Amino acid sequence: MNDKEKLITKASEAALKAYAPYSKFRVGAAILADDGNVYTGVNVENRSYGLTICAERNAIAHAVAMEIKAIKAVAVYSPDSEVPLPPCGACRQVITEFAAPDAVVICCGKGSETVEIPVSELYPMDSLHNLKKN
Ligand code: THU
Repeated sequence: MNDKEKLITKASEAALKAYAPYSKFRVGAAILADDGNVYTGVNVENRSYGLTICAERNAIAHAVAMEIKAIKAVAVYSPDSEVPLPPCGACRQVITEFAAPDAVVICCGKGSETVEIPVSELYPMDSLHNLKKN
C-alpha cells in the first residue's frame, strides 16, 4: 500500500466514527502532516444544525493540537457519497491556512474513483492570503 492509499484507508476508517445522526452523511478526513504523522477527524453534527463541524476542520484541529506546522495532503472520504467528495467552501479556506505550497486534497466517495487536486486549484484567489501572521 502506498502513502496515498494509506491516507485514504485512514480517512475511510475514521468515517465509520462520524457523528451524523441528522444527515446520515458520514465523512472522515485524514491529514498527512509535515511531522510525518497522520491525523484524522470526523464530522460532528448537532441538533442545532448550524453548529455542525466538518471532518476536515476537526482533523485540522486535531493536527494543530499536536503542534503540526503544515499539511502535506488531506484525504476526504464519505461512504455515503456517490461521487468523490470535495471539501466544502469553509473547509477549503481553513485548509489553506495550514497547507504547504504543494499540498493536495484527495477526494473519495463510495466508489473506487478518487480525485486528487492541488489546494491551490481547489481554492484559487485565496482570501486574505497576504495577511501577516505574528
Ligand atoms: N461534511 C463534511 O464533514 N465535510 C465535507 O466536505 C462536506 C460536508 C459534513 C457536514 C454534515 O455533517 C454532513 O457532511 C452533510 O452536509
